[in-house]
Amino acid sequence: MQKLKILMLVFFVGLVGCTHAEVSQTKQIQIGISYYDSYDPFIEQLSKRIEDILNEENVVVKSQDSEKSQIIQNRQVSDMLKDGYDVICVNLVDRTAPKKIITMAEEANVPIIFFNRELVAQDLESWKKLYYVGGDANESGTKQGEIVVSYLESHPEADHNLDGKIQYIVMEGEAGHQDAIVRTESSIQAISDAGVVLDKLDYAIANWNRSQAYTKMKQFLGKYKDSVELVLCNNDEMALGVVQALSESDIPQSQWPLIIGVDGLLDGLKEVKNGTMIGTVYNDQIGQAEAIAQLAIALAKNEDLDQCHLTNGKYIRKPYEKVTQENVDDYLKLVQ
Ligand code: GAL
Ligand code: CA
Repeated sequence: MQKLKILMLVFFVGLVGCTHAEVSQTKQIQIGISYYDSYDPFIEQLSKRIEDILNEENVVVKSQDSEKSQIIQNRQVSDMLKDGYDVICVNLVDRTAPKKIITMAEEANVPIIFFNRELVAQDLESWKKLYYVGGDANESGTKQGEIVVSYLESHPEADHNLDGKIQYIVMEGEAGHQDAIVRTESSIQAISDAGVVLDKLDYAIANWNRSQAYTKMKQFLGKYKDSVELVLCNNDEMALGVVQALSESDIPQSQWPLIIGVDGLLDGLKEVKNGTMIGTVYNDQIGQAEAIAQLAIALAKNEDLDQCHLTNGKYIRKPYEKVTQENVDDYLKLVQ
């Protein structure tokens, strides 16, 4: 009997040991994500795609909305670090204030993938396990400008008052955001470089937001209804607000200013399809989501990062693409 008991104990201990080993071998990867604002339509799309991929890979995902507060985001990251998350993906609220997150991550030795809201290179280089996934803001503006230039070549009548200049308004995204500042500059640069003379009427900061852009455009129409010929928008949501304001005005559509955005989300693509927007620049939500998910998994598994094609060991930038009425159907299929 005593022998049997010992045997059973050995068997039991063996079982427990084995279970332990299996548990640690098959421990699920845990990836945390913190978004600056989950009501931002581009971020909403991007986040859905990242989470879908991670769920398919059987990763435990915790995603949180920072509600545009850096303090809330810092706390979320701190909690996820305490909870033992393997990698944390951060869509910074304030791209100039990543230091707290970087210090906490370094102390816990947990890699951080920043995305969409680009921090300055110096901050990204301040610790080896920091990465950035996004686009090249300069490229998006240049491509936007190029679409305007080629549209003007085939539509000289867009210069309504025939003064040889294009009177324009800019709808800017957030103050201080790389995709707002750089997109505006590079778009204007590309148009001017092509020999088009521009005449700036006004600008407004509409925070990437449709209803803010709508309100601003309503006001602008009060002042510039007869003179505005082009509205450059840092993203599609703001372009959609501009479209809405014009739809409610008494200006016939043939006399509308040219309207262009960036992002290539479904609503924007539909306006390109029906001609109210002359184009948009596709912000590769699919490619960025795949890159973030793949890099996060590789880091969590401690795998070789060669497969992630990082530039300078830190950056993944997905190219922007021009979308006009000619190729809009391809993008409608892609994002639906
Ligand atoms: C930009 C995008 C905007 C907005 C912003 C948020 O890349 O074009 O629509 O989502 O990111 O950071
Ligand atoms: Ca003109």
